[in-house]
Amino acid sequence: MKKATLAIALAGSAMLLGGVASGTSTAALAGSPQEMLKRYAEEAKAAGIMPEGGFSAERGKALYLADHKGGKPATPSCTTCHMKDPTQPGRTRTGKLIKPMALSKTPDRYSDPEKVEKWFFRNCRSVLGRECTPLEKGDFITFMISQ
Ligand code: HEC
Repeated sequence: MKKATLAIALAGSAMLLGGVASGTSTAALAGSPQEMLKRYAEEAKAAGIMPEGGFSAERGKALYLADHKGGKPATPSCTTCHMKDPTQPGRTRTGKLIKPMALSKTPDRYSDPEKVEKWFFRNCRSVLGRECTPLEKGDFITFMISQ
């Protein structure tokens, strides 16, 4: 995603939060991919690992496609279950269908913080043998938003 788009997206979610704070909306808000990005940006900055250019779809793509060592031998890559082309549905190792990871194909993705965190935790440990950093999570979502 282009930096400008990200800035607009972040500004948009800030406005949304502003609206809630000033009481203009009382409806419970579902999360959004932009809010996840904001959260990971804050975490990455706090950890001192946020690069100057911000999140990168390129790095997210590389993380997604790479064969990693250190995780379980049966799941060397995110694409063991998700598809190399993220607009295509994937499959779990038991054959259950997984909806495409690309936001354009599955618009409700990356919106439920608990779900996002649960699966990053689980899948990063299976594939990388460790948790993903906030930078990796932000890069990954940035890539999927661009797809
Ligand atoms: C063993 C199979 C498997 C592997 C390998 C795998 N995933 Fe997943 N992933 C799933 C399943 C199953 C779900 C939950 C079903 C769904 O969201 O459609 C999921 C969901 C997710 C979600 C939640 C998306 C949302 O809708 O909020 C994220 C984020 C995610 N995976 C990231 C990754 C990353 C990053 C990797 C590689 C480091 C990876 N996954 C590797 C099976 C896998």
